[in-house]
Amino acid sequence: MKYQAWYQKHTTSLAGRVAVITGGNSGIGFEAARGLLSLGAEVVLACRNATRALAARERLLAEFPMGTVRVMLLDLASNASIDAFVIEIGKRYEKIDVFLHSAGVYYPRGAETADGLPLTEGVNYHGTVRVAEGVLPLMDGAGKMVFTSSLVDRFGRDRAVRGEGYAAYAKSKHLLSCYVLQRAAARTEKEPAFIAAHPGITATDLLSPEKTTHKPFFSRLGHAFLYLFTHSPEKAALTDILAATKGRNGEFIGPRGLFGISGYPHKTHFCRAVRKRVQKLEK
Ligand SMILES: NC(=O)c1ccc[n+]([C@@H]2O[C@H](COP(=O)([O-])OP(=O)(O)OC[C@H]3O[C@@H](n4cnc5c(N)ncnc54)[C@H](OP(=O)(O)O)[C@@H]3O)[C@@H](O)[C@H]2O)c1
Repeated sequence: MKYQAWYQKHTTSLAGRVAVITGGNSGIGFEAARGLLSLGAEVVLACRNATRALAARERLLAEFPMGTVRVMLLDLASNASIDAFVIEIGKRYEKIDVFLHSAGVYYPRGAETADGLPLTEGVNYHGTVRVAEGVLPLMDGAGKMVFTSSLVDRFGRDRAVRGEGYAAYAKSKHLLSCYVLQRAAARTEKEPAFIAAHPGITATDLLSPEKTTHKPFFSRLGHAFLYLFTHSPEKAALTDILAATKGRNGEFIGPRGLFGISGYPHKTHFCRAVRKRVQKLEK
């Protein structure tokens, strides 16, 4: 593990705590799983694909042989799967301490969720919020409900967009950030802290040709750019780790480097577009 000094200074032990991570088999979610395991948490990988999730579990246990890593199936593109997950996790755990929402899609293959919602918005926003609200009864006032948003939340708007590309992605993250800000304001003392974090930019499988409709040429170009100018998924995951350990209700955490693209995490703020929309909704 890199960044040990940062962990020592900026995080707390999670020994005896349960941390659930959606999309924990890949990219930022996987790196967050490593970080939370290193802090002593029991980790639940909530993933849509059992094979990929079990492979990730093996990799994690190879690095942390004394750790506890469980796998549960969760497809955020299906209300039935989300509801089944909520029931199942309630049977397995009396209490969840950290729920980290990392799963997300960008230019996904396919157009709709099982319930007829546009796919990007359906997974990144509606499905994420549905599972968050579903597991709330398992969390208490000391818990952390962490949402992985994006720098592009400022470019999204709550209006119809065409297709499943950039505009749909920005809209989904805009809605997600608005939800966190609103939910944090309305939080009761018995509920967990609602915290948003964004990872800056990092090269993961998010835009891999296998997963997306992105043109291979642009993907390759995009990845080359990402590798040159941004940080590693391991460092990008530190914003989620900080939120999951020391994050406070209503905070927005992102990398502190130029334009928030890379760097160690710090507390930043919800963008103006998100604040304005929430103010409008609350009038
Ligand atoms: N990479 C960046 O630069 C960046 C920047 C800003 C925000 N983010 C956000 O960071 C989060 C993690 O993305 P990443 O970059 O780590 O990409 P990634 O490696 O592709 O990870 C995305 C994860 O989401 C899972 N997922 C996708 N659709 C799902 C569904 N319907 N149900 C359940 N899980 C689903 C994927 O599962 P499979 O492995 O089975 O596909 C994967 O585990 C996303 O929310 C993304 O929007 C990333």
